[in-house]
Amino acid sequence: MVAIVIENLVKSFGDLVAVNDVSLEVREGEIYALLGPNGAGKTTTIKMLMGLLDPDSGSAKVFGIDSNENPVEVKNLVGYVPEEQQLYDSLTPRELFNFIASIRGLPEEKITKRMKEFLKALDFEQYYDNMIITLSQGNKQKTMLIAALLHRPKLLILDEPFSSLDVRSAKIMKDIVKIHTENGGSVLLSTHVMEVAEGLCDRVGIIDEGKLIEEGTLEELRSKSEKEGATLESLFLKLTEQEEDVAKGVAILREALTD
Ligand SMILES: Nc1ncnc2c1ncn2[C@@H]1O[C@H](COP(=O)(O)OP(=O)(O)OP(=O)(O)O)[C@@H](O)[C@H]1O
Ligand SMILES: [Mg+2]
Repeated sequence: MVAIVIENLVKSFGDLVAVNDVSLEVREGEIYALLGPNGAGKTTTIKMLMGLLDPDSGSAKVFGIDSNENPVEVKNLVGYVPEEQQLYDSLTPRELFNFIASIRGLPEEKITKRMKEFLKALDFEQYYDNMIITLSQGNKQKTMLIAALLHRPKLLILDEPFSSLDVRSAKIMKDIVKIHTENGGSVLLSTHVMEVAEGLCDRVGIIDEGKLIEEGTLEELRSKSEKEGATLESLFLKLTEQEEDVAKGVAILREALTD
């Protein structure tokens, strides 16, 4: 079975077409990265997939369940880490995890064991009883990731998941994502970190101005662009037509900095 099927998804905000006829699939056992410049439509696509935004047209399905029609069912199947942290500031991670376990009906024993493993792996034990509002950015992100993984979902949807993590935690999280897929799970993530897309993901979809302009494995993208051995960064900049912009921006800054 396919984990995610997005078909001809469209979403506008006023005159702006944020997501413009996007179709893609994420297979079971696959890690798929959505790449795109700021404002390209990645988060909007992910929010429709989670049933948090209604599409204007088209559909998004998780394991065959329509996200717009059955958002609660979809949320049960997915471990979701949103772009903005929507945490309960005045709770501690312990209270938050227990709350999540209770609304998901997870047995306390199992959760306690699982939580202990996560806390140890992510070097998070000393923050377990601190109020979330007092945590650093990276530790808030760890809280979100643990919260998303607690119910062992078959599918992870991660919007910029590793952006604030230190080197050790990012490596551990990437390994956790890999283990998740080795066990048959699937992952859709958005990232600006080329090394994550290149090293971790099976396939990459490039979104620009709301459109999915290219899709494939790194090798497929290289051969389509006739750039053998090219890095994903250079392919990305070429495909999104930002190569010249980068050169111009650097030239302007060089002048400003040497004046
Ligand atoms: N609620 C909203 N109201 C109006 N415009 C919105 C809203 N949400 C998103 N947009 C616009 O839709 C476009 C796509 O935004 P989106 O957040 O999906 O981009 P993104 O690819 O996730 O970017 P980033 O890499 O910066 O996270 C942007 O131009 C954004 O300003
Ligand atoms: Mg975003």
